[in-house]
Amino acid sequence: MLTGTISSGIVTGFAQDVRAGLTTRGQKELPSKYLYDTVGSALFEVISALPEYGATRADERLLRKHSREIVSGLSSPVLVAELGSGSGKKTRWILEALCRRQRTSYYPIEISATALNMCRRELGDLDAVSIVGFEREYLDGLLEVAARREPGQHILVLFLGSTIGNFDRPAGIRFLHEVRGILVPGDSLLLGTDLEKSVSQLLLAYDDPLGVTAAFNLNLLARINRELGADFDLDQFEHIARFNSEARSIEMHLRSRRSQVVNVAGAEIAVSFSENETIWTESSHKFCLEELFQIAEETNFHCAAQWVDREWAFAESLFTAT
Ligand code: AVJ
Repeated sequence: MLTGTISSGIVTGFAQDVRAGLTTRGQKELPSKYLYDTVGSALFEVISALPEYGATRADERLLRKHSREIVSGLSSPVLVAELGSGSGKKTRWILEALCRRQRTSYYPIEISATALNMCRRELGDLDAVSIVGFEREYLDGLLEVAARREPGQHILVLFLGSTIGNFDRPAGIRFLHEVRGILVPGDSLLLGTDLEKSVSQLLLAYDDPLGVTAAFNLNLLARINRELGADFDLDQFEHIARFNSEARSIEMHLRSRRSQVVNVAGAEIAVSFSENETIWTESSHKFCLEELFQIAEETNFHCAAQWVDREWAFAESLFTAT
């Protein structure tokens, strides 16, 4: 197996994004992609092992059980691009199934160098797979993968783990539209989505009793301290998970326990917080099965098949570009 990374400077936006998100007049907000530095990526792996957070294991179970059926519906030959590979663990099943019929090129696209390294280590033993990682934003990476497409070759895009849920619904649709714009008819998208479930189950999944999710969320402030020389006192912020019933999403916030001022040297700002004011750090939208069919049609795909986990409401949907 051939492995390499194609990287570019994407870190430079961090200071600008922190500045923009913390100086808005209304709800303070930080993009959830910044949760995944080395510490955050490791904490997310721990979250995935928690009994209260079933999504990652459901995703993996579905891919393990159904990978042969999933790949049997694809036009071949096919190359695989994954948006946000994470550790790469779940992807193994798809790659192994594809290897039964062809040598396979696999392009994980990740903004996290840590995740890319984990992924290479995890999948490096697959002899019939060549791995080329792209340290890029999703669409930039996908454009580069598409440029490497050989005549007659199709692309399978993997977008797993319910990362689509981090977009609000209109932005998710716009994103899928953009993905579709890079694809041609006959290409496919395998989309993993967490499904609606009881509010109590969701609150436990995003505010676990061990406090791992709290650490995952608070690490964003620790990261700003480390990388931008800020002076956030982590004891003065609290992790909050709340269900937004209108958006059908779980929101994570960091609540200021008192009124305070925080300096972020690297972003050249001093930020005032009032008591109980929050920074919104992530939304995780939940889906129902029927709406995934609609989303496919709206974005010029067709939902050709769906697989649903029995233990944890989670679905894989196979979208074909029409
Ligand atoms: C990997 C982004 C889909 O939204 O459920 C887990 C991240 N946040 N616990 C999710 C996450 C809090 C996760 N995604």
